[in-house]
Amino acid sequence: MVKLGVNIDHVATVRQARKTDEPDPVWAAVEAELGGADGITFHLREDRRHINDRDARVLKETVAAKLNMEMSIAAGIVRIAGELKPDQCTLVPEKREELTTEGGLNVRKFARRIKRVVSDLHNKGITLSAFIEPDVDQIRASADCGFDAVELWTGGYAHAKTPRAVQREINRLDRGVETGIECGLEVHGGHGLTYRNVERIAAIPGFGEFNIGHSIVARATLVGMRVAVEQMKDLLFQYSPVELM
Ligand code: PXP
Repeated sequence: MVKLGVNIDHVATVRQARKTDEPDPVWAAVEAELGGADGITFHLREDRRHINDRDARVLKETVAAKLNMEMSIAAGIVRIAGELKPDQCTLVPEKREELTTEGGLNVRKFARRIKRVVSDLHNKGITLSAFIEPDVDQIRASADCGFDAVELWTGGYAHAKTPRAVQREINRLDRGVETGIECGLEVHGGHGLTYRNVERIAAIPGFGEFNIGHSIVARATLVGMRVAVEQMKDLLFQYSPVELM
């Protein structure tokens, strides 16, 4: 069964709206695990707009499931990741002006720098994933850089407006998963996935993990985190292809 990583950043976004100490994203992580999350994902951004250094530290001490840290390749953040030692680091592009991560990392362009970060964090025992567009060249470049996994950007699918555009994006992801597996990578997916649109992505064979944030946190504000995670797990169970042994 495909694994679900719950991104809890936006619990911290609500806290930061009032610069107070609630809601605590660490409590949300505990509730997400109780709802069946296979992993907890957070993004320590350079501007610390939601998750901060204390959250990262306490999450590391608290989370029993897989802990996945999204991060840029900025030297200060790489140093923190190396000290924190989450189970997995997912390298993402980061721009201050964006609302959320937009598109994938250009692994081909920044290969030399990225290779150094991958090797540095591998030496600390951390698994490395690259958040990239479902593009064959970027997937191959990620394998060349030594990544263990790629997380394919599903935003193109989530933002597609017509049935034809949706199908085109599904085909791209389908091909991307195949290429990733051929390259010996684990293949993850994420961005813009919701209770309404996850069905067709979950049905693509070969995905090992989805990272979903905004939609789960949005639902959690109304039904609670534990129930929101249970509902997403149910959908993944319902739509994921049956695995043949
Ligand atoms: N995966 C990555 C690499 C991301 O940067 C994000 C957004 O922080 C997500 C998944 C989750 O996206 P969403 O909040 O749209 O579910």
